[in-house]
Amino acid sequence: MLVKGFPMLNVNEIRNDFPILQRIVKGKPLVYLDSAATTQKPLAVIDATDRFYRTYNANVHRGIYHISEEATQAYENARDKVTAFINAPGREGIVFTRNTTESINLVASSWGRSNLHPGDEILLSIMEHHSNLIPWQLISHQTGAKLRFIPLTPDGRLDLSGLPKLLTSRTKLVALTHVSNVLGTINPVTELARRAHQVGAVILIDGAQSAPHLRVDVQAIDCDFLAFSGHKMLGPTGIGVLYGKINLLDSMPPYMGGGEMINEVQLETATYRELPGKFEAGTPNVAGAIGLGAAIDYLNDLGLDEIHRHEESLVSYAVQALRDMEDVEIYGPFPERGGVVAFNLKGIHPHDVSTILDEDAIAIRAGHHCTQPLMRWLDVAATARASFYLYNTKDDIDRLVESLKKVKEIFSGVTA
Ligand SMILES: Cc1ncc(COP(=O)(O)O)c(C=O)c1O
Repeated sequence: MLVKGFPMLNVNEIRNDFPILQRIVKGKPLVYLDSAATTQKPLAVIDATDRFYRTYNANVHRGIYHISEEATQAYENARDKVTAFINAPGREGIVFTRNTTESINLVASSWGRSNLHPGDEILLSIMEHHSNLIPWQLISHQTGAKLRFIPLTPDGRLDLSGLPKLLTSRTKLVALTHVSNVLGTINPVTELARRAHQVGAVILIDGAQSAPHLRVDVQAIDCDFLAFSGHKMLGPTGIGVLYGKINLLDSMPPYMGGGEMINEVQLETATYRELPGKFEAGTPNVAGAIGLGAAIDYLNDLGLDEIHRHEESLVSYAVQALRDMEDVEIYGPFPERGGVVAFNLKGIHPHDVSTILDEDAIAIRAGHHCTQPLMRWLDVAATARASFYLYNTKDDIDRLVESLKKVKEIFSGVTA
């Protein structure tokens, strides 16, 4: 896989681990540039889930028989891998959810309902994914807490110049994305956690676009909550993580009730399991957690720093190539950014761009990327977006650029 000691990833070998990347689509080799939406899965992950279903599929925590104990051990082992991956102080703070969205909803619902009151404020930013906006809208309607928003600088960074007015003793919670899924902006979350704590607020970091790509250390950041999704970091769909500080999680009521999360049940009352079981009602996604554990092993083998550096070099190459084309608008800061490049070809709708690229077997995203307020701020209805991961190459970007040239040619014919 990785030749140890080499500064960059051995991408050709990595690509052999991803069966889908060998696919021919419409007669051409697939170029997958939509990893910010979901990533492809290596054989190690596919095999781990396959092995579970073939050889030790059983429900966890309940069966007093061999394969159930194996399943429980593998499930809890995955929790240990997540704990180490984000350097959490203890495994009790790692709650398995379905995805980032559910993790944020859990905090909004459970922490929000018991801690927010009329007059309180929740501080977000203009660049948030709807997953880190709608849950706070819902809870603000229910509690009377108000939403406030950090504006952006013209190049798409958080504009912190007005922060002293936005982040005050009224602020009870700050919820921010670590890396923007459109602009690629890497937000200064450690500094923002420090400033949130200075006014007594708690801070939740949306790590959907950071945990797969950067080294995320929850103790170094000192965030109170971190949410991320397995499917964006080589893992299966349907498995996500909420990290929370133990004292906060301990003080929060359960989000969902049912089996698995209880100790003793009377007809009118119940006691709940210790963390993290209190927040894992019902049969969990055992195969998903095991697959996520295998994905974490794979990422650790390559090294998050190497992955980040590889993406930085792809982004530089892509931005340069797009800048060399005429009439292309690129959004977000440069050079410091994550592995996404959102852009528009002047006068051509991004859906048309994506449809024509698809004829060349190039998969990019086109739309509002679940960030409608950000689209309004950019003054566009939608953008095209290419996003990269450890298996992408400069050849992929060359194919993208060639195909974009074709799009322009087709449209120059239309408008001529
Ligand atoms: C920044 C960010 N937050 C949250 C999400 C939601 O992730 P999921 O759909 O896995 O819950 C995404 C997905 O694209 C995202 O990019």
